[in-house]
Amino acid sequence: MRLISLLATAALILPAMAAAKPVDRYVASAGGVKLEISAPRDDIIRVRAGDGALPEDASWAVLPEVRGKRVAMTVADQGSTVELRTAQLIVLLDQKTLAITIKDLSGKTILADAAGTPIRFDNGGFRVRKAMPNDEHFFGLGDKTGPLDRRGGACTFWNTDQFGYSPATDPIYKSVPFVIGLDEAGGTYGLFMDNSWRGFMDLGKSERAAFSFGAEGGGVDYYVMAGANPKDIVQDYAYLTGPAPLTPRWALGFQQSRWSYMTQVEAQGIADRLRADKIPADVLWLDIDYQDRNRPFTVDKKAYPDLPGLVSKLDGMKMKLVVITDLHIANAPNQGYAPYDSGTAADIFMKNPDGTPFVGPVWPGPALFPDFTQTKARTWWGEQYRDFVKMGVAGFWNDMNEPAVFNSPTKTMPIDVVNIIDSPGFATRKTTQAETHNITRLLNSCATFEGVKKLAPDKRPFVMTRASYAGGQRCAATWTGDNTSSWAHLSLSTTQLVSLGLSGFSYAGADIGGFAGNAPSPELLTRWIEVGAFNPIMRDHYQRGNPSRKSGCTAPRRKRSGGAISRNATA
Ligand code: GLC
Repeated sequence: MRLISLLATAALILPAMAAAKPVDRYVASAGGVKLEISAPRDDIIRVRAGDGALPEDASWAVLPEVRGKRVAMTVADQGSTVELRTAQLIVLLDQKTLAITIKDLSGKTILADAAGTPIRFDNGGFRVRKAMPNDEHFFGLGDKTGPLDRRGGACTFWNTDQFGYSPATDPIYKSVPFVIGLDEAGGTYGLFMDNSWRGFMDLGKSERAAFSFGAEGGGVDYYVMAGANPKDIVQDYAYLTGPAPLTPRWALGFQQSRWSYMTQVEAQGIADRLRADKIPADVLWLDIDYQDRNRPFTVDKKAYPDLPGLVSKLDGMKMKLVVITDLHIANAPNQGYAPYDSGTAADIFMKNPDGTPFVGPVWPGPALFPDFTQTKARTWWGEQYRDFVKMGVAGFWNDMNEPAVFNSPTKTMPIDVVNIIDSPGFATRKTTQAETHNITRLLNSCATFEGVKKLAPDKRPFVMTRASYAGGQRCAATWTGDNTSSWAHLSLSTTQLVSLGLSGFSYAGADIGGFAGNAPSPELLTRWIEVGAFNPIMRDHYQRGNPSRKSGCTAPRRKRSGGAISRNATA
């Protein structure tokens, strides 16, 4: 009798003990949804889910060595709920609804799914809903406009060329679907949705007690990071997507740019004037007009007869030169334009669905666009820098890489333009801009970074990009694009740069003085230069057509502030 009851007790206990065996991932299915929970580190939970099947386990943002990691989790089946434990976190999964609650070991909830349907697939896309306590605030989201605290707002992830955007325009240039949640008691976590399709985050705009995120395609793949404070979360995010490499020291100094210094004489004159007026400056930038007919990787020999000479003269003045190299390659057959010839021979340009090359107008006129999701296109792109690196050009500027296409209502190419994904870590396949629009720009700047590093391995590359995706900080600094000369934009620049810093892009700047619109008043320019001294990338840049700028306060203020920038300076 006693033996029977002992056996019966053992029968009850043994399955539970067996279930407590550590696993490196846990997969569950319900209502047609398949979901997987894993943990790349004890304090980071990864959730993947798909409509019927799990999505491809690949990422452009998360470092491959991290994505492949899975720490052990213990599993305890508690009936309707399964409990998974890492050394630092507890995940409770409702087996019926697939709702997830993440807690710390003391039992305090870090992030829980919202009541109702936590995850829904619809029309090829998905939406995930999370509970939003009353005292929760959100920070991050890259270069998004709007207030620093994102609560109550919603945004779209779709890289867009937004000339003269307003402090409320969305979307603008970059897509960084990462937020830090912070409650009023100091509880914090990070959430990163790794999905390159057109996506969104709705941080309490459409529901009062829930926030949500999703995309128009691809699978659910998101990470929840736990940490004691926002700094920990920023470090967790850098662990996942990589930190920004150290920039060259000169890139931390003041940088002078405009669209454009039309001739070599003018560019040299600006450098001379900066030195003559003792305005500390370390870098001069050349915009599109140094090129032959705005064609990337060419030099207009009439306007700039001796670019290597300019580089070495500037070098002698301890000033570096950065030049623009946009991604659109002029569609110029039989004209001896080397990037067209070699790019066509290597078959690296994007194509229409019917197999013809996609041609869209940008600065050089009709242009072709490298397909950066192909390794061979990235290698080809990197090679284009050889002559410029050889002549000592110190840095490169990848602009218009949303990609911007003129005369198009969407400001970009049609979403059915084809990309071929042929990159390590991905299954080789054909796809379209619908999936790749947001990431090919990250790949554009990474191809520049890798190419330049290969050509000058003992130097830190300096690359500046306008568009990017999460993880783009590994390859390039960034700026906030075509802002305007206004006090509102001076204020917005700080919000954007702080948000970018919280989202991995620690090297970022805004066009000081504003790019678009009327020239700033001397007062606005002076104040912007003062604020800009605290921008990680401090660059004065402005639009073609505006007269040269003057900074300088009214007389009494000039006296009070002293120093180089309080003198009238034109550049
Ligand atoms: C884009 C850039 C701007 C640049 C201009 C010409 O508008 O955002 O910075 O000056 O193109 O290249």
